Amino acid sequence: MSLTRKAVLTVAANPLVNRLVSKYGMKLGASRFVAGENMADTLLKVKELNQEGLAVTLDLLGESVTTREEAAHAAQAAVDTFTKISEEGIDSNVSVKLTQLGLDIDVDFCLENMDRITAKAKETGNFVRIDMEDSPRVEATIDIFKRLLKRYGKDHIGLVIQSYLYRSEQDVKELSQQGANLRMVKGAYKEPREVAYPDKQDVDKNFRQLVKMHLNSGSYTAVATHDESIIQWTKEYTEQQKIPRSQFEFQMLFGIRDALQRELVQEGYKVRVYTPYGKDWYPYFTRRLAERPANALFVLKSLFRQ
Ligand code: FDA
Repeated sequence: MSLTRKAVLTVAANPLVNRLVSKYGMKLGASRFVAGENMADTLLKVKELNQEGLAVTLDLLGESVTTREEAAHAAQAAVDTFTKISEEGIDSNVSVKLTQLGLDIDVDFCLENMDRITAKAKETGNFVRIDMEDSPRVEATIDIFKRLLKRYGKDHIGLVIQSYLYRSEQDVKELSQQGANLRMVKGAYKEPREVAYPDKQDVDKNFRQLVKMHLNSGSYTAVATHDESIIQWTKEYTEQQKIPRSQFEFQMLFGIRDALQRELVQEGYKVRVYTPYGKDWYPYFTRRLAERPANALFVLKSLFRQ
């Protein structure tokens, strides 16, 4: 991990910085990465994206909840989001984090919450994807995913795999055999070298390898990156191997590389925008700043424009 990335993540964990940014951050620049603090504002943004040919995955922000009430509330919010999506007729599925649904409180309780959400996804003909969090949670997350995959099938539930983890190659091998729908990402957490490749080059190389393995298995693959060289490679590889465009999609984060998202749509590729919303945006926002220090500059500039 680069020094700057480490520094941003460390500063962000400081309680004073946390309080100040939580209070003023939405004005200072978080709105560049977060669609809205409430559902009404968010829906307007989703409709704009859909009109431009972009599909969406909605993420109600929040992670690491500590009470059953909070977790049950988050599960109900995800269920309600599926209702809203079908009522509004928008092109969107839903992404969730298991620590928001009680993973750290009680695994069985988390599974129950996730079961309700996936049942609703199926009932509304939609799809829920489990985001992947930091490495101590990977095993439990995969376990819950596998159970629900058996129960509801690959058209209604999917998972994220991080290419910085050494274990991911083995995970993809196994999950490919079950036809799982996977989103490949590089990985956004601060991980020790015992579990994750410390060098970016290795992370990038493994990303291509995992995408290749999963595509070759015939399973649906979401290539989630803003890395133009990987996107270009994916286009070339799928063309050479005659992998149909219906077997994969590109995914990017709301507010990042907007022009590239639209360019890919123009070229006829499916593109989905990961669209976070809600009041609890602080940890998400700081991970985005850590990935690219220029974003911190963007925040400072918006401060001077007030
Ligand atoms: P990389 O970091 O190499 O960046 C490539 C280029 O993209 C940069 O040079 C820059 O131009 C642009 N870029 C990247 N980040 C930027 C930023 N913050 N602001 C502006 N420009 C930026 N992670 C995780 O651990 N679990 C998960 O479940 C998910 N889910 C997820 C969904 C989707 C749709 C995406 C796109 C990403 C995730 N991630 C994630 C985050 C992922 O792991 C990774 O941290 C980011 O995507 C940044 O890495 P890139 O692949 O973009 O490459």
